[in-house]
Amino acid sequence: MLGIKVLTLFPEMVRTVLATSILGRAKKQGLVRYQVVDIRDFAVDKHGTVDDTAYGGGPGMILMAPPVVEAVEAHRENTTAPVILTTPQGETLNESLVLEMLQEAQQIGEILLVCGHYKGVDERIRQLVITREVSIGDYVLSGGELPALVMIDALVRRIPGVLSDPSSAASDSFTTARRGGLDSCWYTKPPVYRGLAVPEILLSGHHANIATWRQQQAAARTRRQRPDLVPAEPGEAPASDSTETEAGDEGK
Ligand code: 6GU
Repeated sequence: MLGIKVLTLFPEMVRTVLATSILGRAKKQGLVRYQVVDIRDFAVDKHGTVDDTAYGGGPGMILMAPPVVEAVEAHRENTTAPVILTTPQGETLNESLVLEMLQEAQQIGEILLVCGHYKGVDERIRQLVITREVSIGDYVLSGGELPALVMIDALVRRIPGVLSDPSSAASDSFTTARRGGLDSCWYTKPPVYRGLAVPEILLSGHHANIATWRQQQAAARTRRQRPDLVPAEPGEAPASDSTETEAGDEGK
């Protein structure tokens, strides 16, 4: 069973989310176990000090190396386990990085996530225990807890058996079935809502035609909303330089 350990200064924030919805169900099903470690338990003094001002001056408090390094060493069962630092300076998370991290974690049997906080973390944490730094996008959050939970959700839903219908995940956005692009559009009851009808083909019962239509919808939506995800044709300019029109693809 995969062990996911989260080192944080806000354990309650993390525990609540891990007990909820699919993350909580995966644990009850015995597919994953979580351990939330309070970095403050490894404070350097009896006042619970875990951060201090930066050497050389500058604003903000820096997370100290000893509490974090010792918390990692106390809780990793394997010295080769992946230890991820959540930081806006890391590589940006995407579905292929999720799968890479999951494979590595499953090989070793555990993964540790260190939630970055405050202005930053002492560089020696990176040097001593961090194996990979990951960001969830180009914007700044006040702490690493939400990013760690985002990463755990993305990881856990890819563990076989976690999702009740694996064929649902197979056609998600960014999957091979969608050629790395976006998912199709979807409809449910009622058939007409405020004058907007469900496309007729979806009511036709013709499964092969529906699959083709959905693939076309997905491709059109990807070109319109995320041209950067469209694989370049050989010899074609990169997507960011493309002059291709963005609108008017729908339903082609
Ligand atoms: Cl991993 N941490 C913080 N603090 N902000 C972020 C982030 C991580 N990823 C995007 N913004």
